[in-house]
Amino acid sequence: MRKKVFVRTYGCQMNVRDSEVICGLLQKAGYRISATDQGADIIIFNTCSVRKHAEDRVWSLVGSYKGSKIIGLVGCMAQNYKEQAFARDANISFVVGPQDIDKIPVIIEKVLRGQSPSGDNPLLFERKLWETDSSIRPEEIYHMGFYQDKEHAYVVISEGCSNFCSYCVVPYVRGPLRHRKHKDILTEIWEAITHGITKVTLLGQNVNAYQDNQVDFAKLLCQVNALSGLKEVDFFTSNPKDASIDFFKAIRDLGKLAKRLHLPLQSGSDRILKLMNRGYAAKDYLALIDSYRKIVKGGRLTTDIIVGFPTETDEEFKETCALVKKARFNAAYIFKYSSRPGTEAAKIVDELKPNELEKRHKKILDLQRGISKELRSR
Ligand code: 5AD
Ligand code: SF4
Repeated sequence: MRKKVFVRTYGCQMNVRDSEVICGLLQKAGYRISATDQGADIIIFNTCSVRKHAEDRVWSLVGSYKGSKIIGLVGCMAQNYKEQAFARDANISFVVGPQDIDKIPVIIEKVLRGQSPSGDNPLLFERKLWETDSSIRPEEIYHMGFYQDKEHAYVVISEGCSNFCSYCVVPYVRGPLRHRKHKDILTEIWEAITHGITKVTLLGQNVNAYQDNQVDFAKLLCQVNALSGLKEVDFFTSNPKDASIDFFKAIRDLGKLAKRLHLPLQSGSDRILKLMNRGYAAKDYLALIDSYRKIVKGGRLTTDIIVGFPTETDEEFKETCALVKKARFNAAYIFKYSSRPGTEAAKIVDELKPNELEKRHKKILDLQRGISKELRSR
């Protein structure tokens, strides 16, 4: 009897794609993929560590399965907690970090046979040293042909991040920025097209920094745009410090490109941006979106903002509100700062009081809701 696996996904689109990759690998290894946990023998939590809240939800859900199923902790939390995860919840049978997902079928096989995958080591964490091996994720894993949607595919163009924004755990759990080869990316998209895919979203923590020999992100967009059979192309996510005029012109000129841009701002205060290690000032951001709007006429613009970064004063918060008013984003994802152990920002002890954090969060949410509504009604 083939075992049934349910993969539950948390966090960003990168995780959505990683879960598809995991399902593709498991299907190839003979497992059945289940759409719910009902009747599943194995449950994989593909997790996110960006904010504490996301982690808390996983810990509580993992704890709610008592004994009968095999539970795997995969993704960013796996990398964040490593073998400590087993001490935190004895239900967990295996822990696999984002760079090691190709090993999941073998690890499950070993768990099912009642062995420890690491020989004598009772802890099942398999850690690959990405520092010394740039091909940590074998290219084949991206060619399993497993996409949740019949028409749309997420396509990873780069893994990891080397920006080290001071609040962010991603560089620690996903390792440094590594680019897939542009030929491999084009091959994957071509294969997807032959299976009926007509829309693709190119994924990376900072797609603007894409570089493979002579091919930068604008060139890659051009090559993807040229693939016949494809109808729509977009990408996620961009970084202001690497966005260029050529990149905006590519959005304007390439017919299949969605005329929209997600450009995380994070804060409108120069002192906070500096503490965040973002590499730009508020005026640079405003100049950039001004160019975007002049070049991509009528293009949508969305952003991410963090409120309550440690030491953020009321004045500095108001600077963010002022920038939000000026920028007139179509939509903004507004997050309450969440301290992530191991990051530079976590060393700054001066955090905002929870009620003040709530107040600022609500204020800027209301402000943005008003702007979004006004822009929609036009
Ligand atoms: N606290 C709150 N929000 C965060 N983000 C990243 N790290 C944190 C954190 N520690 C937000 C940023 C990023 C988005 C994906 O998540 O705004 O752009
Ligand atoms: Fe985190 Fe900054 Fe990298 Fe985005 S660019 S993943 S916020 S370190």
